[in-house]
Order: sequence, then structure tokens, then C-alpha cells
Amino acid sequence: MQIDEIKRKIKGDLGKDILFYETTDSTNTIALNIAETNKEGLVILADSQEKGRGRLGRLWISPPGVNIYMSVVLKPDVKPGDATLITLMTAVACAIALRKITGLDIRIKWPNDLVVADKKLGGILTELKIYREKIAFAVVGIGINVNIDTKVFPDEVREIATSIKNETGRRYSRENIIAEILCQLHVWYSAFKRMDKETILSAWRLLTSTLGREVVVTAGKETYQGFAEAVDEEGRLLLRLPTGEVKKISSGDLGTPG
Ligand code: BTN
Repeated sequence: MQIDEIKRKIKGDLGKDILFYETTDSTNTIALNIAETNKEGLVILADSQEKGRGRLGRLWISPPGVNIYMSVVLKPDVKPGDATLITLMTAVACAIALRKITGLDIRIKWPNDLVVADKKLGGILTELKIYREKIAFAVVGIGINVNIDTKVFPDEVREIATSIKNETGRRYSRENIIAEILCQLHVWYSAFKRMDKETILSAWRLLTSTLGREVVVTAGKETYQGFAEAVDEEGRLLLRLPTGEVKKISSGDLGTPG
């Protein structure tokens, strides 16, 4: 990975400092450990991860040489309740960056999966440290399947996941994509710091593939089927159940009925 090339291409404040590891357990773990004593905007990058973490305690497949594993340290002066908006704005920034570079119809699947034709291309894991009811720092972890050949995925993963190379038939520069994501993140994080919730939510709504259709959501032990009506200011999915009741769901796994 050419770190200097990334730095040359970055326009905003995020990614001025980059720490690169050939391999590590998880870039989020490193970022969580060192965020306190470092400035906002620090980026941790790895070529591979031994214990890449996904949402809901899952493993994030992280082989070397092909994908993006990156964590960004943010220190916004906001309450923990606004943390979901950090993830939403990150998903918007990533989707816009990836659409610009690849031309693919990349969409956001609630809550924060990056998908193309309903197959997962990337994900975001935000982890927080709270101090005195404020966010001391947030670590935004971004994983993107770039040049991985999806033939190496286990069968059950291949059915639901894809990569940019798999969708376009060509390889892309990871440095270019990382720089574009950091430029977009700078723009959308500025909107977040202004608490311009409506701008972020409208962009998210334009980019999502989730709203306006029947979905099935598994949240913990419960499963709900209904019409995905909206996403509120806290990033909760508003699901209209067959009874007419609207259920507000904070996190879960989304699928299609049948
Ligand atoms: C998801 O489950 O959709 C979220 C996946 C997040 C993976 C990224 S890769 C970089 C960072 N480090 C980790 O251990 N996880 C995140």
C-alpha cells in the first residue's frame, strides 16, 4: 500500500496522519487503544486483519493484498445519542465515493451495509468511548471488498457478498478509493459537526435500497415482517407491521420476505 500516494490525494483534514500495518488483529482495536492520545482524523490502515470485526460480533473476512480495512478516529462534541448519525453519514460518504470511482449503482442497506444488486460490498462498524455522557471519541471502521475474487469466499458468503472486481471485471487502486472516501468523509463529517441532520438523512434516503418495500428484520430473538416506511433522526427503521402498528427498530439484520 502506497501511503504517500493516499496523502497526496487527500483534500480535507481526515487522514493527515496515517498508521499502516501489514497485518494486525483489527484496525478498530488499534484505533480504540490509541485514539485518546491522538488527534481527530488519525487513520489506521491494514493490508490484512487477523480478527477483523463485523457488526453483531461477526468475523470480517480480511485477507491481504486485495481489500480496504480502515479505521478513522473522530472526536465530535456531541452526545452518545447522535452516534447513529455518524454511521449514517459514513455510509453516505462511502457510497458516494464508490459510485464516483466505479460507476456502480452502490446503495446503502439499512443500517449501514454498502450493497450492489443486493449483495454486500462493504460495511461500517462504529465503536465509541463515552466519558461523562459525551462521546470522548468514535472509531469508524470501514471494510470494502475491492479486488478480492469472490471464488475464495465460503459458499454461504458468496451468495450474499461481492467485490468491486467481481461487479466490474477490473481491478481498482485501493489508494485511490481510500483517498476518495476520506475526501467525502471530510465533507459529510463537516455536515455532521454542524448538526445538519436533514442534509445527511436526505442523502441517506436517496442512496438507500431499503425504504418503500416489504422486508424482514431480525432483531435479537425477534423477527418482524413489514413495510419499510422511513428512517428517523436516530437512524431507527420505521417498519409498518400488518397490524398497522409502526415498530421502531434500532439495529438488526434485514432480508427480503419469502
Ligand atoms: C459489518 O459487519 O458490516 C461491518 C464491517 C466492518 C469491517 C471493518 S474492516 C476495518 C475495521 N476493523 C475491523 O475490525 N472492522 C472494521
